[in-house]
Amino acid sequence: MKILVTGGTGYIGSHTVVELLAKGYEVIIVDDLSNSSIEVLGNIEKITGKKPLFEQFNLTDTEKTGAFFRNNTDIGGIIHFAAFKAVGESVEFPLKYYHNNLVSLINILHGMKENTIRNIVFSSSCTVYGQPAILPVKEDAPLQKAWSPYGNTKQISEDILNDTSKVTDIQAILLRYFNPIGAHESTLIGELPLGEPNSLMPYITQTAIGKRPFLRVWGNDYDTPDGTAIRDYLHVTDLAKAHVIAVERMLNSKMKQKVEVFNLGTGNGFSVMQVIDSFERSTGVRLNYQIMGRRAGDIEQVWADTDFANKELGWTAEKNLDEMTLSAWKWEKVLAKEWAPK
Ligand code: UD1
Repeated sequence: MKILVTGGTGYIGSHTVVELLAKGYEVIIVDDLSNSSIEVLGNIEKITGKKPLFEQFNLTDTEKTGAFFRNNTDIGGIIHFAAFKAVGESVEFPLKYYHNNLVSLINILHGMKENTIRNIVFSSSCTVYGQPAILPVKEDAPLQKAWSPYGNTKQISEDILNDTSKVTDIQAILLRYFNPIGAHESTLIGELPLGEPNSLMPYITQTAIGKRPFLRVWGNDYDTPDGTAIRDYLHVTDLAKAHVIAVERMLNSKMKQKVEVFNLGTGNGFSVMQVIDSFERSTGVRLNYQIMGRRAGDIEQVWADTDFANKELGWTAEKNLDEMTLSAWKWEKVLAKEWAPK
């Protein structure tokens, strides 16, 4: 069975490709390499012994996307990761985000319709919940108006998939990720942040390795036990495995509704200070940090109710926080040695 993975050389995409190949699926990646490296393909092959098929183009190109689908009529399912994801940048360049993230999805859906491909797994985000009133947050919690164009593209994409499924044979699984961190145990693939990272984990590891002078902890006056904001961090390999389960659920006709939504997290919330403590404990490395004011747009606390994903999808995140922070550190050390800018 051939699976199309868009954004398959990216952070979560590459880990998912590895899990798909390990399970015997044929994988074709479409990626424009705008935020990833071609070297990832060779490293996927080193891990799995198999090379995924690869085409480099941007899915907003309607002609190229149409031709791609006409040439690949044997695709059984699609996992759609390809999207821009920098929240701050999306505020500065909203059209860039709306154009890229929405037009690519629309082109894919046209391709699916024309080639009778029924199955799509979509990368959504816990950002759609905003600051939930009730924690842990369940899939049926009310969505809140997105504050950033990035977050809005996730909400609109969910709407596009819902509306399209009503009038076509297309069925979709929307996976709402919490905060993926860490890297593959082989240390051959992981997150490759371009420039200064926005996210916590790569900022921590880049500080520890000496690329950044200190971590800025964005706020310690939140209404949480230690005052710092709380998130649900999960290991990227656990997250990747959920995608394989989701695609198999579609292929094996196990879906109970045309569109299903699952939260993907561990179900545990950890504060920024707890993540720092875990990093220092698991690696033995001391981290420089300074407490700063709050970051605009940050929510105070969110973690997942994973009951539905555990029971209905049959998926549970396995790795604990110390394993995650250690795995991120091992990757950073490899990055510093082998992926140094050329
Ligand atoms: C962010 C996005 C979210 C998106 C996700 C994708 C915002 C508001 N949210 O989530 O929409 O889906 O990335 O990856 O941008 N922190 C620090 N210092 C740092 C970096 C982060 O203290 O240098 C803190 C943050 O304030 C936050 C926590 O660490 O409390 C996690 O931050 P981050 O990794 O950026 O993820 P989110 O903000 O949860």
